[in-house]
Amino acid sequence: MPDKSRQKKVLVIHGPNLNMLGKREPDIYGHQSLAEIDARLKEKGEELGIDVETYQSNHEGALVDKIQQAFGAVHGIVINPAAYTHTSVAIRDALVMLDIPLVEIHLSNIYRRDPLRHTSMIADVVAARIAGFGSHGYTLALEGLVGML
Ligand code: DQA
Repeated sequence: MPDKSRQKKVLVIHGPNLNMLGKREPDIYGHQSLAEIDARLKEKGEELGIDVETYQSNHEGALVDKIQQAFGAVHGIVINPAAYTHTSVAIRDALVMLDIPLVEIHLSNIYRRDPLRHTSMIADVVAARIAGFGSHGYTLALEGLVGML
C-alpha cells in the first residue's frame, strides 16, 4: 500500500453547471457524468502515485474559498472554471496567489464556439491548457500536470 501522507496532492476544480455533465448539452459536453469523470481521475491518480481531490461548485465565492484553502496544501491544480473562465477576476486573483503549476481544461474547444467563450481570464496564469478532448481532457491534464511536479 502506498503511504498516502507522502504522496503529492493535486486538486481538480470544476466550475458551475459541470455537476450537470451527462445531461447538459451532451452533443457539446459528452455523455459522461461528473461522478464518472471524478472516479476516473482518482483511478488515474492511483496509477500515477498521487493523491487526487476533486471539487465542484456553482458559486464563484466558494471556488475562490477552495483555491485559497489550496495555498500551501496542494502541489498542483487542474481547473475547469466553466463559465467563470470568461468573467472571473476573483478566480484569476486567487489562482495568481498560488505558486504551483496550474492546468486549465475545457471539455469543448472554446475557440470553435461563440466569441464570448474565446477569452479566458486565466490563460496567462496557467502553465498549460487543454480544450476540445471532452472528458478525456481531464486525464490528459492530470498526466501533464504530474509531469511538471
Ligand atoms: C467549458 C466551456 C465554457 O465556455 C462553458 O461555460 C462551460 C464549460 C468547457 O468545459 O468546455 O461551462 O468550460
